[in-house]
Amino acid sequence: MIARTSLAATVCLLTVAAGAGCTPETENPTTTLRDSYADAFLIGVALNDPQLRGEDPRGTPIVESQFNSITPENVMKWESIHPEADRYDFESADAFVAYGEANNMFIVGHTLVWHEQVGDWVFEHPDGTPRSRGELLAILEDHITTIVTRYRGRVNGWDVVNEALADDGSLRESPWSQIIGEDYIAHAFRFARAADPDAELYYNDYGLESAEKRAGAVRLLADLNDAGVAVDGIGVQTHMWMDWPAIDDIEQQIEELGRLTNVMVTELDIGVLKDFPDQGSADVSLRGDGPGMNPYTEGLPDSVHTALADRYAAAFSVFHRHRDKITRVTFWGVTDGDSWRNNWVFPGRTNHPLLFDRNGSPKPAFNSVLEVARANH
Ligand code: G3I
Repeated sequence: MIARTSLAATVCLLTVAAGAGCTPETENPTTTLRDSYADAFLIGVALNDPQLRGEDPRGTPIVESQFNSITPENVMKWESIHPEADRYDFESADAFVAYGEANNMFIVGHTLVWHEQVGDWVFEHPDGTPRSRGELLAILEDHITTIVTRYRGRVNGWDVVNEALADDGSLRESPWSQIIGEDYIAHAFRFARAADPDAELYYNDYGLESAEKRAGAVRLLADLNDAGVAVDGIGVQTHMWMDWPAIDDIEQQIEELGRLTNVMVTELDIGVLKDFPDQGSADVSLRGDGPGMNPYTEGLPDSVHTALADRYAAAFSVFHRHRDKITRVTFWGVTDGDSWRNNWVFPGRTNHPLLFDRNGSPKPAFNSVLEVARANH
């Protein structure tokens, strides 16, 4: 059942059906995501490079009418912002922060420490031998201090450490943990706090719907607290599939973590493709083709639109019910064509995980998310 839509949204959908474009900012203001959830939490979105410059003719009108928080999808990651030992490249990050300020957005920095998208020079000497704990700590301190100081008072919150846990809740084996040790996390937070005492500092991860991994996050937060490190919030990425994770698991995650700190849904999308037999696997290194792996290259059947709308409605019902614990819900991309979930596990794979289609038009899922706010207002 597609959620009841407002007359304007129905007109919009009919306009799209007629082959014309229709962007929701032409509708009355109550049909924007940020206004609908203004009494609950911020509604954010991850921006690619044209979008963070306000130069995406399809995505920019949506960003500027629907959202009140932005996160850079890639340009603040180590390989982009600090590509060489003696070179920072702030051009795109500066543009991102300026765009956020010009549009009165809550600005999130993503991400200061991750095991992906980091140049080899960080962990190795030029001759390929591994750096020492002391050397890597100095590099980490320089990286965080330089970046957070540059945007002090301008970036409102930082994903300080991303994905430090393994699926079983133990510390992920990475060059960070192997060279520095498990205290790299506490050091990262201390460096960030010293550089900007007023910015919110977050730990961000995926798969915390799993009780086992979530227990690891709870231990991590307790260890940081014992070390005198204040964490202002935990980001639950919430990359979803149509039948994983269970909505109840999402709710238990929010309830348990919400008792310890602020919760943010930081990378929300719902893939409509069956990826792997165990469904939950999101290992980006996996590759594979096969029957039924790419059924929607020409668009989404109404039945799948409806199922996606219902799935988003179920998730937002939980978010809204726990709005006292949640400070922000961020979508990981503007339109379906922007999503990292396209071309995943093989080139040409076509996914439809977001609220706006490849034309920038609202999908039934957009209306179902608005409807949750209306029904609970
Ligand atoms: O910028 C280069 C470009 O110069 C080159 O021509 C092109 C082709 O090789 O690659 C471009 O870099 C790509 C980058 O996105 C920017 O488009 C990288 O190959 C590609 O791996 C990278 O993917 C990003 C991925 O993180 C990296 O693991 C996705 O866009 C981004 O959505 C995704 O986001 C992550 C979060 O940061 C953390 N949580 C998981 C989430 C999904 O993986």
